[in-house]
Amino acid sequence: MEVKKIFLPESELPRQWYNIMADMPTPMEPPLHPGTGQPVGPDDLAPIFPMNLIEQEVSTQRWIDIPQEVLEKYVIWRPTPLYRAYNLEKFLGTPAKIYYKNEGVSPPGSHKPNTAIAQAYYNKVAGTKRITTETGAGQWGSALSMCCAMFGLECKVFMVKISFNQKPYRKLMMQTWGANCVASPSTETEAGRKILAEDPDSPGSLGIAISEAVEAAVTGKDTKYSLGSVLNHVMLHQTINGLETQKQMAIAGDYPDVVIGCAGGGSNFAGNCLPFVCDKIHGKEIEIIGVEPSSCPTMTQGPFAYDFGDTVQMTPLLPMHTLGHNFIPAPIHAGGLRYHGMAPIISQLILDNLIRPMAVHQMETFEAGLTFAKTEGFISAPETNHAIAVAIKEALKAKEEGKEKVILFNWSGHGLVDMAAYQAYFEGRLADYPLPADDIKRALADIDPLPKPNQYRAPKI
Ligand SMILES: Cc1ncc(COP(=O)(O)O)c(C=O)c1O
Repeated sequence: MEVKKIFLPESELPRQWYNIMADMPTPMEPPLHPGTGQPVGPDDLAPIFPMNLIEQEVSTQRWIDIPQEVLEKYVIWRPTPLYRAYNLEKFLGTPAKIYYKNEGVSPPGSHKPNTAIAQAYYNKVAGTKRITTETGAGQWGSALSMCCAMFGLECKVFMVKISFNQKPYRKLMMQTWGANCVASPSTETEAGRKILAEDPDSPGSLGIAISEAVEAAVTGKDTKYSLGSVLNHVMLHQTINGLETQKQMAIAGDYPDVVIGCAGGGSNFAGNCLPFVCDKIHGKEIEIIGVEPSSCPTMTQGPFAYDFGDTVQMTPLLPMHTLGHNFIPAPIHAGGLRYHGMAPIISQLILDNLIRPMAVHQMETFEAGLTFAKTEGFISAPETNHAIAVAIKEALKAKEEGKEKVILFNWSGHGLVDMAAYQAYFEGRLADYPLPADDIKRALADIDPLPKPNQYRAPKI
């Protein structure tokens, strides 16, 4: 029988994270202070993040040691298995070899604890007592809740209202791990009250929830804020995934021609692909594809510009692909992909043609998720279905071309707490959302007066 799962022993767990900042062909442009428009220094970020994480945010050191206390928690779910999707290959009749890295085996069910545990640890060491955050689909909020519990920290989560209502079990998971979760916009912060005054029925957005969480952190005692994606230190922590995958691909005796991941703020995609991007920078021929929803086409259609990470304009301005901080995406079920911006690292790698973005519609992603469930068995998170849809496209392209390509995708999480989305699909209540060009134009008008990065790119709408 052929080998289906490639395991790494715990002794092979990577002991360092990989920092792509050491190898980026074009240096990143700095974040800017929201008030002065000048590059932010570490002290500007100190009210929001502990200094040890700020140091990682700006570090250009290639390898960063993973603390022993973090490794001891990583082994609860890591190393995660790499699977060969023989059944899916057979079903598609493709000569391609398809591999997927299963990040759904962590206790909350996704890649998110890879950084949550590191952030909880560094906050604990820095003397933080309470962490605030936002969550979309609830994967990040539940991951941080678990990790705060493991290091004895309080955790407060502002969950985007539409997901709060769609996914009640995520809230209960957070409660089980001892966190407090409220629907955002909430009446607990000035930011939330302002949004509710303008639109009492606001479905919320990640941008609004971030504003609430940042406000709660800067106004709370011994409280810091934590972000589950987008920032450099989050991408760094996630690279444990790609470093394991490289060892597992070597055991399988293969090397990917194509690496695929879904991208909301960019963290699961970055985690799996950045070590391969490093190989590409050093001469390997490999295609690396980030997949987003067509209804929130940040990478494929948004400009590369400076923008706020949140709606109420409290965060630094980041150089990134963005649809504008006031853009409220259509209520698709992939809540974790409904974000107006993209990680500056991923954005820069797109400009440097090292990563290719693609957008897919919601219905195609659910169809792909069902094909995957019926062949490989696992029920995927709606976000993950975006990666599967493109893996299937690539496998069918390989079939047409008669090429034995090696395709790797990151299976970012299971969908067992997302069954309401599948129910909506079965009941015919899901639809594709046509490109909201007018909404995007309106939201982009709001960022027009902001400073422009040197490498500014116009939107493609
Ligand atoms: C399962 C899963 N995949 C992907 C994402 C997208 O986030 P990111 O781009 O940061 O990986 C999320 C976010 O909530 C998620 O829960």
